[in-house]
Amino acid sequence: MCKPIIKWVGGKRQLIKDLKRLMPKKYNRYFEPFIGGGALFFELKPKNAYISDYNKELTNLYTTVRDHSDELIADLCKHKNESEYYYKTRALDRDKKVFAKLSDVERASRFIYLNKTGFNGLYRVNSKGECNVPFGKYKNPKYCDSENIQACSELLKNTEIHNGDFEDIKEHVKEGDFVYFDPPYVPLNATSSFTGYTDQGFDEDMQLRLRELCDHINDIGAYFMLSNSSAKYVYELYQGYTIHEVKATRSINSDATKRGKITEVVVTNY
Ligand SMILES: C[S@@+](CC[C@H](N)C(=O)[O-])C[C@H]1O[C@@H](n2cnc3c(N)ncnc32)[C@H](O)[C@@H]1O
Repeated sequence: MCKPIIKWVGGKRQLIKDLKRLMPKKYNRYFEPFIGGGALFFELKPKNAYISDYNKELTNLYTTVRDHSDELIADLCKHKNESEYYYKTRALDRDKKVFAKLSDVERASRFIYLNKTGFNGLYRVNSKGECNVPFGKYKNPKYCDSENIQACSELLKNTEIHNGDFEDIKEHVKEGDFVYFDPPYVPLNATSSFTGYTDQGFDEDMQLRLRELCDHINDIGAYFMLSNSSAKYVYELYQGYTIHEVKATRSINSDATKRGKITEVVVTNY
């Protein structure tokens, strides 16, 4: 019964129906190189998968859930839902020497705790890679969900997990495999971009490099499905492929009046 372990900006939960409708009916191995919160991955529960992300804390989280679930649960249950404790735990990444001394389990536990008790369940880092989300003041945040961790640990046992750039999948994808790409979106306008996933950002050159990887996947007879915004540049990049339009409600904008349904695209090569 495993559900996504963390809430993630740009999470795909609300588009699951569309994505399931648009994905290929049959494929060999499942790949998701911008795994984030993994909404589609946890929905599909693939038997043989490869997931990755550039964000080290995120991939450490999934590896720890897979390989050390008992220790992780024990550590998670030690946390406290208190402002002072939250800021002390958040501040552990301010001193790189202190942070480097944390074990993988402690880092994964901190990550889940900050995600569940931080404001809006949002994870964001500044240009130095430091988490800067304020305390969320929630009554009863569920950071010690042992049942879900154990269920996810079982699912992840069939999964190869990597930390790194999306292009690293190139040598692993074979004919008949399926890749779902959910990259940071091309901004619709200069102020709408969210760049806090990693300390690296994701510019037009990266979007182009991603399109080139899609061309390669297409050339070798594998399938890809890609989500992105409806920016003009996305239509230009993927002309020649099938572009589906879907509607999503995006709530990253803190101005509630600006939370409407917006068009996003799903590109496929089949
Ligand atoms: C839109 S989010 C994915 C959301 C995910 N589908 C979900 O349901 O939660 C984009 C992800 O891309 C990752 N990312 C950013 N740059 C990357 C890169 N160069 N290579 C791989 N992953 C990257 C970010 O860390 C982030 O987790």
